[in-house]
Amino acid sequence: MLSEKLKTETLTNHQQLEKMLVTRMKSIRSVQDYIDLLQLFYSYFGALETRINTFISAEQLPDYTHRRKSAALSKDISDLGGTPVETVSGDSLPEIENALQAFGALYVIEGSTLGGKIIAKMMAQQLGITNGTGLSFFNGYGDDSAQMWDKFKQKLDLIAQDSNSENIVIEAANQTFTKFKLQAGHSTV
Ligand code: HEM
Repeated sequence: MLSEKLKTETLTNHQQLEKMLVTRMKSIRSVQDYIDLLQLFYSYFGALETRINTFISAEQLPDYTHRRKSAALSKDISDLGGTPVETVSGDSLPEIENALQAFGALYVIEGSTLGGKIIAKMMAQQLGITNGTGLSFFNGYGDDSAQMWDKFKQKLDLIAQDSNSENIVIEAANQTFTKFKLQAGHSTV
């Protein structure tokens, strides 16, 4: 199934990104450091969402509006006293020219809700946040996370009818990870 292939075929990229982010998160000591981390996600995921929106709507994914992440990111940044930065553009983004590529990028964004819970816990501990301020993006769907992920995977498994289409989704997911790693490497904290 495509959802299983995506997991194995993007594993190396996921592990590399996770390692980069864990190192960075361990060094976060101030709210400003954390705002900078949120800005990294906002600048990339915000731009990705704009591209994805051209090809995916409630027609393809009935709960898509509920899944959008950039609004939560900009809210977290503002709630912590920051101002959301410009989103990235051009070559900094993966190629998203059709619905299959859009689903590949969305797989990466949706999957980030799984590790997000771990990140939210780490940030709350390191910064002493007890009321959830600034954690809405990383807390994702809260108790609904497993159900939202299963529903998304079910949809993924219906969108590609042959191995050529599957490869387009997998390639887009890997490109989405790779370009994010580049952003994470460039950004300064
Ligand atoms: C410190 C950072 C991260 C940690 C510790 C982490 C951890 C995890 C864990 C534990 C899972 C598996 C959850 C489960 O199967 O129930 C997971 C899945 C996933 N994560 Fe991360 N993650 C991190 C960052 C990210 C980021 C930034 C992205 C995307 C940009 C991402 C994308 C994904 C995807 C796509 C999956 C789904 C894999 C599958 O198909 O099952 N992760 N992550």
